[in-house]
Amino acid sequence: MDSISREAGSLLMEHFRRHVKIEYKGDVDLVTVADRQSEALILERIRRHFPTHDVMGEEGTRIETGSDYKWYVDPLDGTTNFAHGYPVFCVSLAVDYRGKRIAGVIYDPTRDELFAAEKGSGARLNGQPIRVSSTERLAECLVGTGFPSHKRHQNPNIYFYHQITLRSHGVRRAGSAALDLCNVAAGRYDGFWEFNLNPWDTAAGVLMVEEAGGRVTDFAGGPFQIASRETLASNGLVHDELLAEFQAIFSGRGLEELPSPVAYAKERKY
Ligand code: IPD
Ligand code: CA
Ligand code: CA
Repeated sequence: MDSISREAGSLLMEHFRRHVKIEYKGDVDLVTVADRQSEALILERIRRHFPTHDVMGEEGTRIETGSDYKWYVDPLDGTTNFAHGYPVFCVSLAVDYRGKRIAGVIYDPTRDELFAAEKGSGARLNGQPIRVSSTERLAECLVGTGFPSHKRHQNPNIYFYHQITLRSHGVRRAGSAALDLCNVAAGRYDGFWEFNLNPWDTAAGVLMVEEAGGRVTDFAGGPFQIASRETLASNGLVHDELLAEFQAIFSGRGLEELPSPVAYAKERKY
């Protein structure tokens, strides 16, 4: 897994240095030749070494033979960043055995950081064990989130972004959910949430957080499922506080009002 992700990462960097052409899957859902070539390379390596395994890849790979093993492939997580020349993206690979995640690898080729997790054996960054942070209060947390491109007009995340920003040290929105989850696993973020992620975005990163001692649930505190449209990850210590905030936001309780830009403009001094 490590070597497949490194090979795909090198391919991405070659395209990144040359500035790739953008194509569109939806109105703001981008794809590049790099996404497709990376998936083709990964698929070729999986088929060569594990010809009987099932595979689900973001760019269309669906091999479903009823194998005990199933791979989840995001050949380029952070395509929008990649296409604009913003160096925050990665390759994400995970493997299930009989429906249970057993291994995950996420490779960030811009920093040469390889995150790897094996069920029951912990999480590592470039071979060194990593652990989630020990922050105990949301007020002292740095948190990450993301805004999916799909159905963005219907997504209420801006309210969560606003409320959690006012209750923490800040919320980052870096544009790669797999790396966001690695940042929780490595203790760089204390938490992360996002609506509407897909299995290939979360499969490896969720295992990474759990194996680094963290917790991942849906927004109501229920077990995270691979098909879940809600991902809330944390160091475990601030999880209940985040869940309580989410419940309050969903029910509209104690919401800090969004400041009016119109009122602000009236008070503006030139
Ligand atoms: C996207 C990234 C982004 C998240 C989007 C994902 P992609 O994956 O993980 O951070 O906000 O929801 O779709 O399309 O770049 O592989
Ligand atoms: Ca993705
Ligand atoms: Ca992708």
